[in-house]
Amino acid sequence: MNHQTKIRAALDVRDQFPAIVGWHYLDSAVSAQKPQAVIDAVTHAYGRDYASVHRGVYQRSADMTLAYEAARTNAANWIGGAAEETIFTRGATEAINLVAARFTNGNRKRVLLSALEHHSNIVPWQLAGYDIDVVPLTEDGRIDLDAAERMANESHAIVSFAHVSNVLGSILDAKRTATIAHQVGAKFLLDGCQAVPRMVVDVADIDCDFYVYSGHKLYGPTGIGCLWGRSDLLNAMPPYQGGGAMIDQVTFAKSTFLDAPARFEAGTPHIVGAIGLHAAIDWTQGAALIERRVRAFNPFPAAASVVAGETVKIWEAAVLPGPLPTGAAHGQILAAGEPGVDVATAEGVLRVTRLQKPGGKALDAAQFLRGFALVPGMLFGPAPEGTP
Ligand SMILES: Cc1ncc(COP(=O)(O)O)c(C=O)c1O
Repeated sequence: MNHQTKIRAALDVRDQFPAIVGWHYLDSAVSAQKPQAVIDAVTHAYGRDYASVHRGVYQRSADMTLAYEAARTNAANWIGGAAEETIFTRGATEAINLVAARFTNGNRKRVLLSALEHHSNIVPWQLAGYDIDVVPLTEDGRIDLDAAERMANESHAIVSFAHVSNVLGSILDAKRTATIAHQVGAKFLLDGCQAVPRMVVDVADIDCDFYVYSGHKLYGPTGIGCLWGRSDLLNAMPPYQGGGAMIDQVTFAKSTFLDAPARFEAGTPHIVGAIGLHAAIDWTQGAALIERRVRAFNPFPAAASVVAGETVKIWEAAVLPGPLPTGAAHGQILAAGEPGVDVATAEGVLRVTRLQKPGGKALDAAQFLRGFALVPGMLFGPAPEGTP
């Protein structure tokens, strides 16, 4: 098998999706089909492994609790957050409703949205009694951040934008938006439904305050999603719903509540949904997603093989969890450079946003790929705004 054939074979994931055998599916932005790995995780969680979480004093319940909390950690890590800041919700819709209903920013009663928002990023704010200002789009279908900068003011409690548009596919400059929001004392919520299946997300780097996404667009089950929020903001918000699992102490006169995430997860949670989401994230992190990411952000053909022994300084790269082979083989890249990022190979999972040859001019991922082989195992995101 030559290099190109190997790449094509590694990228062909169709037979992992039982629902699309003999069929073409073009509706993933609405809801993605499920790979067998997710179906198996859900089957096992409802089958041989099932028990409730957080309150059982028997082994299987303890194991389920561990699995549920491991899913939370995975869902948090997927966007660069921490488990204690990550609440499982029914989906992005419920996550935005929760913030709209419970977050307050002093007496501010306006929100800044954009003309491309999904209904689930409009109606919750109306229901919560906010007045809405709408940022227009540029001619090429992006949220007009110059207009947003002019419009944002101290009456805005929050700026709430889609990270990637479900209609136009346009990608927000999220870091600039965070600055615009914070300059006027507003918080910044990102609707990441269409971003998390396609691109590397890091809430710390973006400097947002809330981030929401749905599991079913990420090859996971329906009925599960995430709200990530800064701990101080979450713990200042009153509970959204009351019930079991979210209380500290209960009397008929008064109850006190646990901190996030439990505070916002009243009742028996969607245990199996969370476990399915965990499997979906693991699957997405695997080689199967590479094609989507590469195609989404680097729509150009692969070029010649890498020069053996070539040393490339990786700048702003992160190695994702998973086994990384240590040696370089045919068509692979040996990379050395910044501390902490010193090995990149074809089969490893490496997150690269920008690259530089030692002593040379900075190259972005697109330039890099034109010169070297496009190899499985590498995930590419767009070069961050403002990087020299
Ligand atoms: C950008 C965006 N936000 C929010 C949602 C709502 O997600 P859900 O229906 O999973 O809650 C969608 C779903 O289409 C979406 O594309």
